[in-house]
Amino acid sequence: MGSAVGLGNVWRFPFQAGQEGGAVFVLLYLWFVLLIGVPAMLVEFTVGRLTGRSPVGALAEFGGGAWRYLGGLFILIGFLILSYYSVVAGWVLRYVVGSVTGGYAGRSESYFLDIATGFDALVFHAIFMALTVAIVALGVRRGIELAVTVMVPAVAFVVLALVVYAWTLPDAGAAYEYYLSPDFSLLASDWRSIVPAAAGQAFFSLSVGMGVMITFASYLDEERNLLVDTGIIVAIDTAVAFLTGLFVFPILFTAGVGPADPGPGAIFVALAGAFADIPAGSVVGVVFFGMFAIAALSSAISIMEVVVSFAIDEFGAVRRRTAAVTGVAMFLLGTPVALLSSQRQPILVTLYDALAAQILLVSGGIVLMILVAWIGADRAMAELRRGMHSPGVLPQVWIWLVRIPVIVVLLVTLALAVGDYWSFLSGDFADFLGL
Ligand code: TRP
Repeated sequence: MGSAVGLGNVWRFPFQAGQEGGAVFVLLYLWFVLLIGVPAMLVEFTVGRLTGRSPVGALAEFGGGAWRYLGGLFILIGFLILSYYSVVAGWVLRYVVGSVTGGYAGRSESYFLDIATGFDALVFHAIFMALTVAIVALGVRRGIELAVTVMVPAVAFVVLALVVYAWTLPDAGAAYEYYLSPDFSLLASDWRSIVPAAAGQAFFSLSVGMGVMITFASYLDEERNLLVDTGIIVAIDTAVAFLTGLFVFPILFTAGVGPADPGPGAIFVALAGAFADIPAGSVVGVVFFGMFAIAALSSAISIMEVVVSFAIDEFGAVRRRTAAVTGVAMFLLGTPVALLSSQRQPILVTLYDALAAQILLVSGGIVLMILVAWIGADRAMAELRRGMHSPGVLPQVWIWLVRIPVIVVLLVTLALAVGDYWSFLSGDFADFLGL
């Protein structure tokens, strides 16, 4: 849960929903979570617990020699994701400071553009990456796990309070209409971008497609019911995202900001507006952005852990040094994201993020599914049965679902994602490069 709940729910979900047409995106996202996210998480959980190893080794053991290269893909995805994830988490840290100084009051949109790229962005990117490295290097996971346990109820409370606050706003009705009542004509015209965006969001938010859940499951014992664990994580992760949308859109609509306008700044613009408006807003701001930063930290750790545990398991590397080197490399990879902008918008976030979520995570998921459902189905089903009281036909249903329907759907979304990415590269991004 610490890995799953993070920027994906609170930052990524509302800005994707705002850019991809609102309710139709939400509906498709929920479909992908249930029909693809759940089976995908079970795939990672069974492989992880069965082999008891970190992702690269787990694949080599579960699939045999050449599957090891899939682990290489995971490492690559980890580098790419954490490099910009840390930039966005840096914005969160910056907003903790902004809540204290009151910097964003009355200018929520321009404030985001001021801090999103440039020197501040780089400094807070560095701070966040340093925190992640420190925790991974010292292996002080217990402390952070404790913080997450305490925080989940606290986050839930503040999120619910914000939902109630947003409900009282004058333009809440129009916002609910946008967020909850699907306009299927949008789907008819824009399905080529909405479908892959919804699939990418499901993968990203649930932390599946790059072996993070393999790592966690390698520590689980036989007693655990993997299906129950999956259900709990998916339900909470999805609820946090859904509730976030429920307060972001009323705030934006009431402020007269179009849902797609702030782009990746949606959550920041909305929260800054709300905290400037409510009593004791700066205290609430510090608390909320502080908790949000810890949620992001626990997700970031899970990503870095995949890379570091790989180096330790396969090459006998030293944890501390590996964490430091990995952190520096990821920081450098994220530096252009923190520095370059197009019309003040942090355009490289899209360049990295769409590639990572819609193309690479989905590819990682497809290959893992082929391995488990076609090559290791019997072992995977046996592993799933372990810890389940009355599995019945569920394991078979799972494998059959993955074998053809899920893989086919994912291949389609992958093809659409590549097309969509190409239009971004040849459109906005080419403009940015001045081509
Ligand atoms: N799911 C996390 C979030 O919502 C991010 C994350 C952590 C992740 N580990 C991952 C995303 C692995 C993809 C793959 O913020």
